Amino acid sequence: MTITLFGLSATRSGRPILHPTDITIEPGARVGLVGASGSGKSTLGHTLIDALRAQGTTVAHVPQSPDEALDPLRSMGFHWREAERALHLAPNPARQAKLFEALNISGANLRKRPWGWSRGMQQRFVIAMALIGTPDLLVMDEPTSALDPVVAAQTMDLLDRYLADRHTALLLITHDLGLAARRVSRLLVMAQGQVVEDAPTLQMLAQPQTKQAQALCAHRNWRTLPC
Ligand SMILES: Nc1ncnc2c1ncn2[C@@H]1O[C@H](COP(=O)(O)OP(=O)(O)OP(=O)(O)O)[C@@H](O)[C@H]1O
Ligand SMILES: [Mg+2]
Repeated sequence: MTITLFGLSATRSGRPILHPTDITIEPGARVGLVGASGSGKSTLGHTLIDALRAQGTTVAHVPQSPDEALDPLRSMGFHWREAERALHLAPNPARQAKLFEALNISGANLRKRPWGWSRGMQQRFVIAMALIGTPDLLVMDEPTSALDPVVAAQTMDLLDRYLADRHTALLLITHDLGLAARRVSRLLVMAQGQVVEDAPTLQMLAQPQTKQAQALCAHRNWRTLPC
């Protein structure tokens, strides 16, 4: 099912932080949402998720900070059970073990609360939770920002394999154009609460049209990064 939303917008303290925005995402598409810090990427992500959930579309979300997904008073095991319950799935230790192994958190203690785990482990746990089901859309907001480069690349490889045999579309939110360029086939560039450019990745990298996309593409160091 193609995801189509018209006129997404958001206002905070009387100030528009997301101007009316239309979004179309094809089934299984991999789309990157890039732009400078404060351009409105996370706001668009949250607004999109709320609108889709209100329509009954299934969306999994990896928020920018694990704090948004994890309750400090609840154990990690509790979070996992809640995620399964929300998807109407019976507990499945084999599925859990496979995801934990893939995300390199197998030995971690599920009786601990989030603060008993490192930030990187929390982030990988939240990514694992997002991969329990088969949503129509997976929104990942800076999914690798708390991870070291090697684990970040492994995590993105895992995600590629996960998405390869599903119809789940991906919206990858990042200010890291290098990460997006390697993982998505279409790029949306945000600036000041608006999508200012929308083009296939290779086309945008070769011929960015707007000054914001040109500024992102001008920093060519990203070609040497591992993920
Ligand atoms: N709750 C809020 N109240 C007031 N302003 C907000 C609120 N949330 C976001 N903003 C403002 O909206 C703008 C967009 O913020 P947003 O977090 O969506 O940017 P971003 O592109 O995700 O940035 P980053 O790359 O740093 O994560 C910023 O100017 C921010 O200050
Ligand atoms: Mg953000």
